Amino acid sequence: MKTLIAYFSLDGNTKWIAEKLHRKLPNTTLHAIELASNPIKSKWWRMMVYGFKTTFYKKMAIKNSHLDMTKYDAVIIGAPVWAGQVPPPLKAFLQQYPLKGKKVAAFCSMGGEPSQFFEGFKKAANIESIEATLSIVEPLQNLTKENFKKLDDFVKRVEVAFEMEAELT
Ligand SMILES: Cc1cc2nc3c(=O)[nH]c(=O)nc-3n(C[C@H](O)[C@H](O)[C@H](O)COP(=O)(O)O)c2cc1C
Repeated sequence: MKTLIAYFSLDGNTKWIAEKLHRKLPNTTLHAIELASNPIKSKWWRMMVYGFKTTFYKKMAIKNSHLDMTKYDAVIIGAPVWAGQVPPPLKAFLQQYPLKGKKVAAFCSMGGEPSQFFEGFKKAANIESIEATLSIVEPLQNLTKENFKKLDDFVKRVEVAFEMEAELT
């Protein structure tokens, strides 16, 4: 199955997961979802503004990417948890590129709990089920055996669900 890995990440945690998945899953294409405007630098101000936008369902524009989604049968998609939910830039991506009819796996990084992320993701993507999910607490600060195992388990589930050939290493 031709598979796209798409992710949104502000501070690199979700990007770290996406890059690890890309390395472990052969023949996937990696795509970064980027904000149209420069991200707010101050961590405190960012938490306030982006947290507000997420809580009150405000939109955040993303850069045009001209992806040809018809090329992909399956998508692995990830983002950080914001205010317990899917961040607006990921929602913008899902509006631009509907996932209906594709196999979907999802991942997130977070400070504490995935909360409503995967339920919110299904709603935002208008899909009924997710083949596999992965949530990791800020991997850049937690390079633990447990997190590497979670990653490997997710990869195995995706390989089965997406009928991918496991890479012989
Ligand atoms: C605006 C905002 C809201 C957040 N809300 C939550 C939250 O509700 N729950 C949580 O566990 N982490 C929350 N976080 C922490 C991020 O999910 C976490 O740091 C994540 O790993 C960041 O991913 P990134 O480095 O890819 O941007 C929030 C971060 C930001 C910037």
